[in-house]
Amino acid sequence: MLLQVRDLIKTFPGDERPVDVLRGVSFDLEAGVTLALTGESGSGKSTLLHLVAGLDEADGGQILFDGADVAAMNDRKRAKLRRRDVGVVFQQFNLVPSLDVAANVALQARLAGRHSPEADARLIERLGLVDHRAKYPEQLSGGQQQRVAIGRALAGRPRLVLADEPTGNLDEETGARVLDLMLELVTDASAALLMVTHSKRLAARLERRLHLAHGRVATRIERRAAE
Ligand SMILES: Nc1ncnc2c1ncn2[C@@H]1O[C@H](COP(=O)(O)OP(=O)(O)OP(=O)(O)O)[C@@H](O)[C@H]1O
Ligand SMILES: [Mg+2]
Repeated sequence: MLLQVRDLIKTFPGDERPVDVLRGVSFDLEAGVTLALTGESGSGKSTLLHLVAGLDEADGGQILFDGADVAAMNDRKRAKLRRRDVGVVFQQFNLVPSLDVAANVALQARLAGRHSPEADARLIERLGLVDHRAKYPEQLSGGQQQRVAIGRALAGRPRLVLADEPTGNLDEETGARVLDLMLELVTDASAALLMVTHSKRLAARLERRLHLAHGRVATRIERRAAE
């Protein structure tokens, strides 16, 4: 099992009393499988994704990657895992403004010591960014910027891609195209995908669905019957 989330608890300090956002969330994600995370605004989707990405710490429970407890790793090992095995795509594209398209795509793979100019060139071509490779983020449209962010997440050949409403800032048609491309690249790379979305329609494109409500997993719709 690639990812095992066990009884995850996260509480934020509120104005009057603490807010229990995650009250014991558990799920598994198999290698190479795509999973959509849905739930109302405020249900804790981004919080859960941040915990899995290691951008925040849980107050209880465990996150196991390949059977290893991420919290029990030393900082070096955890940092290595994040750089090599996890790619992240956010709603706001979070590109480095001072780097051009090619350098943004290469960034994480370089940090992970896995940079391959040939693989990057293929990726940039598949992302439709050949004519934009020397441009800077501010010179790109939203859809182009998000394709760069997807390229950056995938260039290091991660085993898990985490995406938080990756098409949330794009118009419907552009969003649908960007999602198609991301699913295609994730599938080709045999990576697993955990994607937060508000949209039932987009969620339906992924193999599995997980719905958060009241701090817990509400329903778990398993793989589509067709598979
Ligand atoms: N750093 C923080 N400090 C305090 N409260 C927080 C923090 N981050 C999130 N929260 C609270 O936790 C709850 C869940 O937030 P989260 O961002 O995970 O929701 P979400 O499901 O991603 O919502 P949306 O669909 O609107 O993006 C909200 O009530 C939010 O106010
Ligand atoms: Mg969110």
